[in-house]
Amino acid sequence: MPPERCTSTVCSNASGRGTPTVYCSTMSNAEPPPLYEHPYPSAELAADHPFIGYRPERLDDATMQTRAETFHAGMEKRRSVRMFAADAVPRSLIESAIATASTAPSGAHKQPWTFVATDDPKLKADIRAAAEEEERTNYLDNRMNAEWQEALAPLGTDHHKEFLTVAPWLVVLFEQRYEVRSNGEQRKNYYVKESCGIAAGMFIAALHHMGLATLTHTPSPMAFLTKALGRPANERPFVLFPVGHPLPGTLVPDIKRKPLDQVAVFM
Ligand SMILES: Cc1cc2nc3c(=O)[nH]c(=O)nc-3n(C[C@H](O)[C@H](O)[C@H](O)COP(=O)(O)O)c2cc1C
Repeated sequence: MPPERCTSTVCSNASGRGTPTVYCSTMSNAEPPPLYEHPYPSAELAADHPFIGYRPERLDDATMQTRAETFHAGMEKRRSVRMFAADAVPRSLIESAIATASTAPSGAHKQPWTFVATDDPKLKADIRAAAEEEERTNYLDNRMNAEWQEALAPLGTDHHKEFLTVAPWLVVLFEQRYEVRSNGEQRKNYYVKESCGIAAGMFIAALHHMGLATLTHTPSPMAFLTKALGRPANERPFVLFPVGHPLPGTLVPDIKRKPLDQVAVFM
């Protein structure tokens, strides 16, 4: 029998230093099994840096299964939308989606992202004009090669980006290639693209969960966004998200998602 798990956030028994512990030696007379030879954090680490208890509610398997299926069914309904309604969306909802995105894990906890949101008609018009110019070159002047165009054919995308002025909000996720501290010093960021990709996914999921729609839009090259939104040299555009309600009756490509056995391998 494993010993009782210590539920104290800060246990002062095991190390005598007020550091959190997994097993507390005073909880049971039995010797705790050596589940971890090298517990995290070590006493030395906890003495140097603050740690707090993390004890989420432990759910039973049946409850987890139900929650998993409910979440998956909800996420299956998410689609990228290219026709938005012009209906206004409260700023607080955009703020909430960004706050959720910003809970994403990130390399060395650098959170190397900036979400720039605008509902300003002039800014949206400038962004649409610049995006359409780039996309005209991509689609009409063959900057996208034949293979790329073939892959995009079922989606029917082209250089028209009217949704950029119709959608009530544009949110641009910028990746911070390096950090600039308040004193001007530069510091490296780590796994910037991976971190921003995860944050982008959480942003999309948050919007979908609250009943809004978006499009992951990358009108490449996107340097025009840095200029249009006056962003600093350490930031590079990652994705442009128009956000709003889908236009009633909007159509989306009839595409299928790969079944589990094509995307997962269990060994
Ligand atoms: C990194 C990335 C870039 C994308 N860029 C564009 C884009 O520039 N324009 C566009 O219409 N769709 C773009 N998409 C959306 C995809 O076409 C869409 O996610 C895919 O067709 C699957 O459809 P769904 O999102 O409705 O499931 C992009 C998606 C990703 C992940």
